[in-house]
Amino acid sequence: MNKPLSGKTALITGASSGIGRITAKLLAQDGAAVAVNARRRDKLNELVAEIVAQGGIALPVDSDASGTADIDEMLQRVLEWDEGGNKYDIAVVNAGRGLANGLLDSDEDQWEEVVRLNHLGAARLMRRAGRYMVERKSGDIVVIGSVVGKHISPVSSVYGSTKFAIGSLAEALRREVGPYGVRVSLVMPGIVVSEFQQVAGYGEEFNNLTGSIGTLLNPADIGEGIRWLLSLPPHVNVNEIMIRPTGQSYP
Ligand SMILES: NC(=O)c1ccc[n+]([C@@H]2O[C@H](COP(=O)([O-])OP(=O)(O)OC[C@H]3O[C@@H](n4cnc5c(N)ncnc54)[C@H](OP(=O)(O)O)[C@@H]3O)[C@@H](O)[C@H]2O)c1
Repeated sequence: MNKPLSGKTALITGASSGIGRITAKLLAQDGAAVAVNARRRDKLNELVAEIVAQGGIALPVDSDASGTADIDEMLQRVLEWDEGGNKYDIAVVNAGRGLANGLLDSDEDQWEEVVRLNHLGAARLMRRAGRYMVERKSGDIVVIGSVVGKHISPVSSVYGSTKFAIGSLAEALRREVGPYGVRVSLVMPGIVVSEFQQVAGYGEEFNNLTGSIGTLLNPADIGEGIRWLLSLPPHVNVNEIMIRPTGQSYP
């Protein structure tokens, strides 16, 4: 049966958990061969087994999504993947991590890792995917930003600054590559319950902050948004979407 993404190969970073994991499953259901990246190989193997059991095609690519050499190696492994057609058509730039608290009280020892992954790692992958897709004159680059990359939040200051940065990079890249038939979409989630909160170091204050919001998002709420924008005809590029829990008024 022909599915909307049949014949396409998608690379999804940060796919061992949360938004990346469900996005990989949804794109595989839509017929894409999915190369799934993260650092935890065991989690990737579980995901690949689930996708293959459902009739999909998947490749685990365990590597760090922040460093130049790792990103080059990741892309090389995708391009050497015969089952994936030795190419990629979609890059979901999703790997990222949060960091709780403001400029005054966040853990400064973690700033560098947050910037390296969320800003520089994303930029490196966007550059490489952009160059590759411009050559091919088609492709989709989906960048996962955040509502705190549009609205300044004092409870995630350093993290939010990295999401402002990639929001600006996504729009700059869109202007560079759009004329060559390459789409760039920035997806900005509100609060999604995933491993994100624990990694970022949110504790009791997270419950206090979110208690009045009502039902929070789950990763599939974002994955479905990504699936939708990829389903549109090639001449339609949804440049930005913000997806929040209905009760989240701020940020
Ligand atoms: N959850 C939210 O409320 C929320 C809101 C707005 C935006 N976002 C953004 O959405 C994206 C996904 O977040 P999530 O909620 O799905 O969080 P998550 O459940 O913590 O997933 C993060 C993923 O990134 C991977 N990762 C972390 N560091 C990595 C590295 N150095 N190299 C490769 N992979 C790495 C993790 O896998 P490994 O640990 O196995 O490497 C994991 O698969 C992030 O960019 C985040 O900033 C999340």
